[in-house]
Order: sequence, then C-alpha cells, then structure tokens
Amino acid sequence: MRLILSGPPGCGKGTQAQILSHNFQIAHLSTGDMLREAVSIGSKIGLEAKKTMERGGLVPDAVVISIISERIERQDCDLGFVLDGFPRTLPQAEALDKLLVGKNLAIHSVIEIRVKDELLIERISGRFSCSQCGEGYHDRFKQVKRAGVCDFCGSTEFSRRKDDNERTIRERLGNYYAQTSPVLPYYESKNLLSSVDGMAKIDDVTLAIDRVVNNARKD
Ligand code: AP5
Repeated sequence: MRLILSGPPGCGKGTQAQILSHNFQIAHLSTGDMLREAVSIGSKIGLEAKKTMERGGLVPDAVVISIISERIERQDCDLGFVLDGFPRTLPQAEALDKLLVGKNLAIHSVIEIRVKDELLIERISGRFSCSQCGEGYHDRFKQVKRAGVCDFCGSTEFSRRKDDNERTIRERLGNYYAQTSPVLPYYESKNLLSSVDGMAKIDDVTLAIDRVVNNARKD
C-alpha cells in the first residue's frame, strides 16, 4: 500500500501517518522529519535547509526529491509507505511519478486532511514530542497519561519544534496555499484524491482514513 497524506501544517499528517504505518506495517516517510534529522546531525543538506525551515519556507525541490529517491529504495518500503509532507509542489509530484513508474509501482491513494486555519495555529502551538521515541503529543488534544512521562517509551525528555511559533506558522500556511494545494487537482485528475474532515477527533479521522484506504485496496 502506497499512500500520500496531504494538508496544511498541523492538520494531523504526522499523527495519522504514524497510525497508518503501525496498522498497515508500512514505512512512514516524513520529509520534515528527515530534514530535521539532517539539521540535527549537521549534514550538508541539514546546513543548507536549516534557515529555510526556521523561517517556514520550502526547501528546494531537488533536495527533497533526492532524499525521497534514496529513502524509497530501502527494504522497509517493500510492503509500501505513507508519505507525510511530500510531494509539496507540482515538480515534486511529477518527480515522484517518474520515480515510481521506473519501478513499476503506483500510488494507491492521496488523502487530503482538511482543517480550518484558526485551529491549525492552536494545534501547532501546543505540539510537543518525546525526544527519545518521537511520539507526538499536544498540550490539550493529546496529553501524556502520566505527567512528564512518554506513554510509549517512558522517557521524561520532550521537545518543541523551532518552527512552531505563530509567525512561522503563518508563513508555512501561506506557502501551503500558494505551492502545495495546487498539487491536489493533479491527483484529482488521476482519480486518486479523497478528503477527510481533520477537525474530528484523532480516532475519528483515523476511521475516515481507514475507509478510504480499504476502498483503495478493493480497486
Ligand atoms: P513538516 O514537518 O512536514 O511540517 P508541516 O507540513 O508544517 O506539518 P506539521 O508536521 O507541522 O503538521 P502535521 O500535519 O504533521 O500535524 P501533526 O500530526 O503533528 O515540514 C517542516 C518543514 O520542512 C517545512 O516547513 C519545510 O521547510 C520543510 N519541508 C518538509 N517537507 C518538504 C518538502 N516536501 N518540500 C520542501 N520543504 C519541505 O498534528 C499537529 C498537532 O495537532 C499535534 O500536537 C497533534 O497531537 C494534534 N492533532 C493532530 N490531529 C488532531 C485532531 N484530529 N484533533 C486534535 N488534535 C490533533
């Protein structure tokens, strides 16, 4: 199963991709996570991407396309993958198609998660994650069960993203509408696009996505 989750920053792509990856035993490919990893280890790509990410801009297409081309080759993608945050521009979508055609593979479904702008800002400003296992949480919407302790790995270290501040969020939203939302009609024209209500509870969004995925599996 090869899926794409699309939608504005904070709509729940990462949250739902983690669940899909676990439920369908497919790889979770987040270009945002890969770029943050590159920044944290100080690689050449990371050094180039750092400033752009901190101000909420898009990293050049060639950089993210090369990261994804390399990542898709790995064995954990053999059973499929869920792309989170890629493709984000039309050239990225076209490059992904070329890459998959060359391997005789195809995307089964593209799921747009729809959320109103005001809610996105609240979601992003309250987000934090476990520094050890990466599990995502929210001050209000997804709290840890025991204060200060990760539900999954028991770590007591948490972190917040540098680009999760209101000014940068507005920049990221602007880029989403200008550069990423035009990718949706591209997939609609290929009959691959479905939309789900991302303002529902996390479990209900998961159920809606499951329905889309199960329909795509029947085709
Ligand atoms: P990236 O990491 O992809 O960030 P993003 O698209 O801005 O999306 P987010 O990770 O902020 O949000 P999300 O949709 O995953 O929401 P989440 O599940 O965390 O990219 C970061 C940067 O990297 C970009 O700005 C760019 O610079 C660069 N980059 C990455 N990919 C690129 C590409 N392809 N091309 C060029 N540049 C690229 O949820 C948010 C919060 O809400 C969480 O706390 C969660 O618990 C909560 N929540 C989730 N769902 C619900 C719900 N249903 N109800 C209540 N709360 C919820």
